[in-house]
Amino acid sequence: MTLENIKLDIDYVRSQFPAFSDPLSKDWSFFENAGGSYVPKNVITKLNQFMVSTKVQPYAEYPMSKIAGQNMDKAIKLFANLINAEQNEILIGGSTSINLYVLSNALKKYIDPGDEIIVTNQDHEANISPWIRLKNDGAIIKEWKFNLNTHELEIEDLQKLITNKTKILAVTHCSNIVGSVNNLKVISEIAHRNNIIVIGDGVSFAPHGFPDVKELGVDFYTFSLYKTYGPHLALLYGKKEILSKLPNQNHEFLEGKYPYTINPGGPNHEELVSIIGIYEYLENVYNHHFDDKFNAKKISRINQLISKHEENLGNPVLDYISNRKDLKLIGKNKIKNKNRAPTISFVSKNKTSRSISDELVKNGIATRNDNFYAWRCLKHLGIDTNDGVVRISIVHYNNNEDINNLLNSMDKI
Ligand SMILES: Cc1ncc(COP(=O)(O)O)c(C=O)c1O
Repeated sequence: MTLENIKLDIDYVRSQFPAFSDPLSKDWSFFENAGGSYVPKNVITKLNQFMVSTKVQPYAEYPMSKIAGQNMDKAIKLFANLINAEQNEILIGGSTSINLYVLSNALKKYIDPGDEIIVTNQDHEANISPWIRLKNDGAIIKEWKFNLNTHELEIEDLQKLITNKTKILAVTHCSNIVGSVNNLKVISEIAHRNNIIVIGDGVSFAPHGFPDVKELGVDFYTFSLYKTYGPHLALLYGKKEILSKLPNQNHEFLEGKYPYTINPGGPNHEELVSIIGIYEYLENVYNHHFDDKFNAKKISRINQLISKHEENLGNPVLDYISNRKDLKLIGKNKIKNKNRAPTISFVSKNKTSRSISDELVKNGIATRNDNFYAWRCLKHLGIDTNDGVVRISIVHYNNNEDINNLLNSMDKI
């Protein structure tokens, strides 16, 4: 059977997530996935096993400790394989905001007074404020603003901002408000022709399929594991050629032992091990749909399955919102060839976002209104940053019933 003929078996997918049978959550149509996703049972099992059998200091020779350390290394190795990186190119931290702060602190060594940094106004603040802070080290900050007609970051606008002083470009792979997927491959090529380091924020992209970071060409790439079906951790990839030259921010005696030098401390052990459960989940999904056995190189086939399903769920919502005269959709009105994530934001012309999200919640739709920390993006769109947008964020475990519930509720309110 070719990939075109295979459909995501949504009942199988949902059977892997205990939240869909838990009394508190089972009756909700959950659309706050871009805030934080549910976890598959393998993640919970791994967390539980770690806490029961190996909750000791890792990397000693007694079995509980040895296995704890082996599993921590395994978690990193599996995720490195998934995104086509090497093990020593992966850092795990408490959140993307923390990871990017730590990274900016390390990169400031390369910033001389007068050097330029480009940030966008489409990004979440996590990939803006750490770079703006480098003003204190003499950096000049330039803002790549998205086009107010298309809501897109236009490449020609980037080209106008680049000078021979530009050192860093921080740009989102996918906006958590606009939903557009930015072409990081092209952006990285342009940046590298000008010797610029590219920091890609993949937080809103990775839940819809883990990317190949080498293919994207970025120097750094980050995503939050708690939005990719795992615990509250975040992953930062960095090219080893750059990581190995960053200053030591850890203990003095660790000098030279990158990547341990970048973070001032280690990650949460039990949560790190539990991300093996995300990999196992992907493996189960693959083996359920295909005849051959899963390995990390086959992740693109799962990504395609997921994209097709997400497109089928997201497009009716985009159609509905863009056809209603009283609503204003943000971003593209169609998902095609993964040009957009099904992260769908809108505002109403005559109701507050808060009142709409409250009504939706009363109707069993788990969503919310907010600026989602992309407040520069909202300001540029002229949207009140306190009331924000209503955001419907869909992932692959949503089903047609969720979409019907949502559209029926939208009609009612
Ligand atoms: C696009 C984007 N980038 C960065 C972040 C920050 O992630 P974290 O909560 O892990 O700091 C978020 C969080 O919502 C996000 O949506």
